[in-house]
Amino acid sequence: MKKINIGICGWGNVATGLYKAINKNHELIKKQANLDICIKFIGARRDNPKCNPQDVEILRDIFDVTHQDIDVVVELIGGVETARELILSALKNKKHVITANKAVIFHHGDELFNIASKNNIKILYESAVCAGTPIIKVLQEELAGNKISKISGMLNGTTNFILSEMEKGADFDPTLAIAQEKGYAEPDPSFDINGIDAAHKIGILSYIAHGTSLPPQKFYIEGISDITSTDFKNASDLGYAIKHLAVANQINNSIELRAHPALVRKESILASLQGVRNGIEIDTDLVGKIHITGSGAGQESTASGLISDIIHLSNNNIPLADNTDEKASSESLKEFNTILFQNYFSIEVEDDKEVNQKIISEADNNNIKIEEIISNKDKPSNVYFITNLVKESEASKFLKQLKVIEFVKDIKRIRIESE
Ligand code: HSE
Repeated sequence: MKKINIGICGWGNVATGLYKAINKNHELIKKQANLDICIKFIGARRDNPKCNPQDVEILRDIFDVTHQDIDVVVELIGGVETARELILSALKNKKHVITANKAVIFHHGDELFNIASKNNIKILYESAVCAGTPIIKVLQEELAGNKISKISGMLNGTTNFILSEMEKGADFDPTLAIAQEKGYAEPDPSFDINGIDAAHKIGILSYIAHGTSLPPQKFYIEGISDITSTDFKNASDLGYAIKHLAVANQINNSIELRAHPALVRKESILASLQGVRNGIEIDTDLVGKIHITGSGAGQESTASGLISDIIHLSNNNIPLADNTDEKASSESLKEFNTILFQNYFSIEVEDDKEVNQKIISEADNNNIKIEEIISNKDKPSNVYFITNLVKESEASKFLKQLKVIEFVKDIKRIRIESE
């Protein structure tokens, strides 16, 4: 039987989850993967009252872990700059690295993969995107013979949890508090709700599928904090659900990278995914559309992805594919302002008859087509409509013009994701 000695850096929610999962499934992993995973060291500044590591030695300086006689450093400290230094120290000491840290891969991936590749050392990061739901190795290996045009989906469990609870009538703040209690949210939840976490993840997937750089040069990011119960109701009446989508879309040689709320057709697979689930749609040339869904956050799901990396490392002697030499040039990243979207507009008005005429005339002036301005039956102060496919810059200009119409009190716009 093969044996792999690991050192875990960090002793928070994710690290203790890994410790528990390895202990729980130790015999099963031995049987199924012919592998004995041995946790030799834990690097932790302080104990965690929620988990007793029994006889595993704890090193108070996390960097000491990288100097021990182990095969792998599992980086679970989170954050960016210290995590980068820790990974660099592990690489310098010829230790393979496994990390669940999407932020450090997003910000320093090019540098870290370059150094790892030169030293013939591997950095594995399955859990960095969608936790244990398999996607990284699926793209790197199973779909490696495909041209991938578009990857889109909900890559942040917290926002999908909040949006699907709001769709059922819950309020934003208490639902975020539940997501924090359940351990879905980042230590700073603004990373979840402002779309940054999802952006990190799609940036990483685009690096694998499209060869964009890490960090990417251009990215549009918007969060979910402006979405209201009225938007859910209006979207639903129009046949849509509201999701936070992260998208990497290659059209010819141009790649869009974006993370923002979007209306998606109710009957789509992505719309049907509720709660903390992540869902990804991958458009491939050989297999067509592939859907992958599963839990994208939480202790156990993350542990599953980390264990899959440990097993993978023990099974493979070939270096993993890396794109560091063949980056898509920054010019090939599309300017967000040039992307075409249909748009949902929702407007709070004081006098809808007056305002509707003005909206139509502004739309005409901008060559924007509106099929119908719908009056909200339950909320007389609200009207909403959908535009034709419009360039992002034109839609923003139209939004600014609508804002200054007399009797318009508030305007919301959400882009519609085309099929
Ligand atoms: N905060 C993240 C999420 C955790 O909600 O998806 C997993 O990356």
